[in-house]
Amino acid sequence: MSEEFDAVVSRVRERVTPDGGERERLQGAAATVMERAREAVADLPVEAEVLQVGSTARGTWTAGDRDVDVFVAFSPDLERSELEEYGLSVGHAVLPDGHEEYAEHPYVVGEVDGYAVDLVPCYAVESARAIQSAVDRTPFHTRYLADRLDDDLAGEVRVTKQFLKGIGVYGSDLRTRGFSGYLTELLTVEYGSFRALVEAAADWQPPVTFDPEDHGTTEFDDPLVVVDPTDPDRNVAAVCSAENVARLQHYARELLSEPRTTLFERSEPAAHDGERVAAAVQRRDTTPVAVRFDRPDIVDDQLWPQLRKSLTGLTEELNRRGFDVFRSTALATDEEGGDGETWTDGAALLVELSVFERPAVERHEGPPVHVREHASGFYDAYADDPDVTGPFIEGDRYVVERPREFRTAGAFLDSDALLNVRLGPHIASALEDGYEVLVGEDIAALADGFGVELATYFEPKP
Ligand code: UTP
Ligand code: MN
Repeated sequence: MSEEFDAVVSRVRERVTPDGGERERLQGAAATVMERAREAVADLPVEAEVLQVGSTARGTWTAGDRDVDVFVAFSPDLERSELEEYGLSVGHAVLPDGHEEYAEHPYVVGEVDGYAVDLVPCYAVESARAIQSAVDRTPFHTRYLADRLDDDLAGEVRVTKQFLKGIGVYGSDLRTRGFSGYLTELLTVEYGSFRALVEAAADWQPPVTFDPEDHGTTEFDDPLVVVDPTDPDRNVAAVCSAENVARLQHYARELLSEPRTTLFERSEPAAHDGERVAAAVQRRDTTPVAVRFDRPDIVDDQLWPQLRKSLTGLTEELNRRGFDVFRSTALATDEEGGDGETWTDGAALLVELSVFERPAVERHEGPPVHVREHASGFYDAYADDPDVTGPFIEGDRYVVERPREFRTAGAFLDSDALLNVRLGPHIASALEDGYEVLVGEDIAALADGFGVELATYFEPKP
């Protein structure tokens, strides 16, 4: 058993370790970028240090990855507007065909010798606690890990990354909400090997807390807490969702009980076509409803939190109105461009309901009769209303049965009441611009563009 595990790991390890040629080409591209960046910095009226950061600086990228992160660190005394201006001018000088992206401040993304390059300005602060912008921590991460990783441990990091990629939990972007590269490296260093990490994770009892530098600041309200060795106030695993922690635990057990390389390979289900979607709806005999709209023109890291918030708002409202949400998901086409071009692809909120239609009337409970003022107010408001049944008394309360505003979820979604749901701001404006409501088997139309997501929805796996 244990030999099988080790055999699988060593096969994966071989596959994800970049060979000498790949290392040389990547570091050659990185050297070109840094050289050009230093030349561009020399033309500025201020000084700045050019640094290679991220996994390529630490030798922990997985074979085949082609991205290089280079930072330009300016004096902390520089105004933010100047940092942005100088940072972009260096970025455009290094990456003339590049485009600007925006995180906490703008930076330039482009290509050099076939490598995707991020050229990010930051402040060269004294310590990660003194950061002025979130990216200022990054050089400290690189230094911290460089001191603790040797070739063997770097190999274990690559295997861990590949496993997390295979099971779909790698990446700290706000769509994935998984394990960042830095978090993966800290966990691997903490346990000393991929195997030790997997064995431990199989038995984790969240919240799971690590504090590698004994900062003592472990009070975070997250399922996984790794106190940043370089910044006691930050949980490196802050974006990691409970689902993804549980997913790691599940697949850790899978790997231990039946070691296999397929767990290290991301596999997408075959897309459902409209017919399969319709068949699934028929088989389940639920009532799916969807609101389809144009994808707001914002980046994924802005979009996904807004989609989740909107989905929560919508499911709460549908539950409140009696349609009993069974399960739900948000859909959106991938972010594209970022080079100033806009994209108007689709997005949708899909909610599967247990209830197709509610009665024409709904119950509405009033106050206890003994709460005189409120109770009389309630009674007077309804006593002469020809549309309501009652008021009558149940227990110690007044109750009325009044006409229900929407008997079907579809009617509710078609109405302006949808816009009163708690929605992310860009989702609200997208809906104001127009949307389409799909009910029941009509959601099969979503297979055009979201076939893989629908396959995942109707045949979910851990
Ligand atoms: P990357 O996302 O490129 O991660 O961010 P990585 O460590 O290089 O891993 P891979 O191999 O490309 O997937 C580069 C650096 O930026 C900082 C980390 O220090 C990371 O190493 N960073 C990135 C953060 O601090 N937080 C983030 O959410 C993302
Ligand atoms: Mn990287």
